Amino acid sequence: MGVSTAAHQIEGAHTADGKGPSIWDTFSGIKGKIQSGHHANHSCDFYNRYGEDICLMDQMNIPNFRFSLAWSRILPKGHGQANQKGIDYYNRLIDGCLERNIEPWVTLYHWDLPQELEHRGGWTNRDIVSWFQEYAHLCASQFGDRIKHWMVLNEPMVFVGAGYFLGVHAPGRRGIKSFLAATHHAALCQAEGGRILRNALPHAEIGTTYSCSHLEPFRPTLIRDHGATRRVDAILNRLFIEPGLGLGYPIADVPYLRRIQEFMRPGDEALLPFEFDFIGIQNYTREMVKYAFFTPFLQAALVPPKKRGVASTVMNWEVYPPAIYHILHKYNKYPQIKKLIITENGAAFPDQVVNGEVNDTQRLHYIQEHLKQVLKAKQEGVKVDGYFVWSFTDNFEWAEGYHPRFGLVYVDFETQQRIVKASGKWYTEFLNPSPFWT
Ligand code: NOJ
Repeated sequence: MGVSTAAHQIEGAHTADGKGPSIWDTFSGIKGKIQSGHHANHSCDFYNRYGEDICLMDQMNIPNFRFSLAWSRILPKGHGQANQKGIDYYNRLIDGCLERNIEPWVTLYHWDLPQELEHRGGWTNRDIVSWFQEYAHLCASQFGDRIKHWMVLNEPMVFVGAGYFLGVHAPGRRGIKSFLAATHHAALCQAEGGRILRNALPHAEIGTTYSCSHLEPFRPTLIRDHGATRRVDAILNRLFIEPGLGLGYPIADVPYLRRIQEFMRPGDEALLPFEFDFIGIQNYTREMVKYAFFTPFLQAALVPPKKRGVASTVMNWEVYPPAIYHILHKYNKYPQIKKLIITENGAAFPDQVVNGEVNDTQRLHYIQEHLKQVLKAKQEGVKVDGYFVWSFTDNFEWAEGYHPRFGLVYVDFETQQRIVKASGKWYTEFLNPSPFWT
């Protein structure tokens, strides 16, 4: 049991101690890209306040802390000269966790590509594989003596889809060609990163994480909606895991994906699989899918919760706890998967501070109900073994800025004051003593 975060969303200190710019620093500087013109230059200032925040985590009985490394703190230009001060910071953070008996879980890549690499094509340039190899080697050699749990990539479908196809996330590129190129290179990196960590650290547990939404046809009696749901599933839920498991890209459901071959070199097929020790499942909601003739490539569209008249969060995601149960069963069916861990689950609701307290009953309820569903799946034999709440504190929610608050701990971004919300107090009680997983 634990909490999840990501470097760019919490650290702030965007130029401190030799850090190079990332694509998110650049993207946030472009007018109109982030709601209300927000940026993560300061965010929760975790870079300077990690000591107090870990102390709070300890007081909250949280035994596992998932965070990511900012590539451009460690290698400001993405490759070449390393930045010792950036490495020192992560050493202090890791040691600080261990001193308090908090187990650090590290994600290598949570979306903040060094800007220098983007200048050279970013994820669309095949060279990303060797840049990523260099970065993964360096992280393994610097932190591997103390980090026992690693995740290679965070939600590749989201950073490739939103960043290189829709253009709504950094680096803001659009188009099917950049999407297919970035997809293949990210799929190569997920396996390559796994191999590098495994060779360097044979005893470490190595995983990678995926965004997963439970999907249902909007009109169950229409065959066309079933077909549309299958195609969306292939893209949203299977595009990265299946090549990783040795099953190839889901071309049978989305024939257009054949075009990925343009970016493949001889021998690549053999490089795509890697035997991960665990798969990180990140689920928040379910989506309803309908046939949509005019949507290119997929002929499918999602029907938003507002149109369906169901309750949703600040992110406009439906609150539907059985989604996590169905998703666990879905991934449990792949015999190649050894273990599932919920590496993210949580919700953004409009929190209010009243008399110094945040009584976030909706979030509390959301987490309780999702945990029940996870336990139900576990009792039915699903190989799930862990659960992390997204997120420890409120933080920078990418293109949505600071509006959605996901934290168990409220952050006043002006004063940097932290207030443990009712959900955080409940989680503290729940974890002491931890009834299911330590
Ligand atoms: C997915 C991402 O990994 C994380 O960065 C994001 O903040 C949460 N889910 C909520 O959208």
